[in-house]
Amino acid sequence: MGILTILEFPDERLRKQAAKVSSVDDSIKKLVKDMFETMYEAHGVGLAATQVNVHKQVIVIDTSDERNEPLCLINPVILSRNGETESNEGCLSVPGFFEPVIRTDIIRVQALDAEGLVIEIDAEGLLSICIQHEMDHLLGKLFVDYISAFKRQRIKKKLEKIHKMER
Ligand code: NI
Repeated sequence: MGILTILEFPDERLRKQAAKVSSVDDSIKKLVKDMFETMYEAHGVGLAATQVNVHKQVIVIDTSDERNEPLCLINPVILSRNGETESNEGCLSVPGFFEPVIRTDIIRVQALDAEGLVIEIDAEGLLSICIQHEMDHLLGKLFVDYISAFKRQRIKKKLEKIHKMER
């Protein structure tokens, strides 16, 4: 498989809820590998399975400059939240658009890693924002849901126009 196709807003499949992964088996490990490949190829800092039309609770992230700190979170749950932060967010499913979004600054997250082991991590700043953004995808939510309906509609129209030209 390798590189997967990334769904783009306003594709309705981005609105599906992802199901919990019951066991981290070979098919999940293959999915994780392909998602990392897809994310790195697209120069993204994070990717949720929802974005590649697989509706399972799997996200991959790498917020490092060197692109050598892969983080995989399966069935992630936020255990605690602290503070607030605002940053310009973008998304591989909303290419070319960046808008300010307010999120929790510091989070503690529990998840399974790519081997199926339970991990807990403390995240703040970009990593924290990225985890929250990707976890939103698993709920069928996009960063454009946080901006005004007017701006969201404008982005939708522009992307639909581009999609039409690509067909
Ligand atoms: Ni995204």
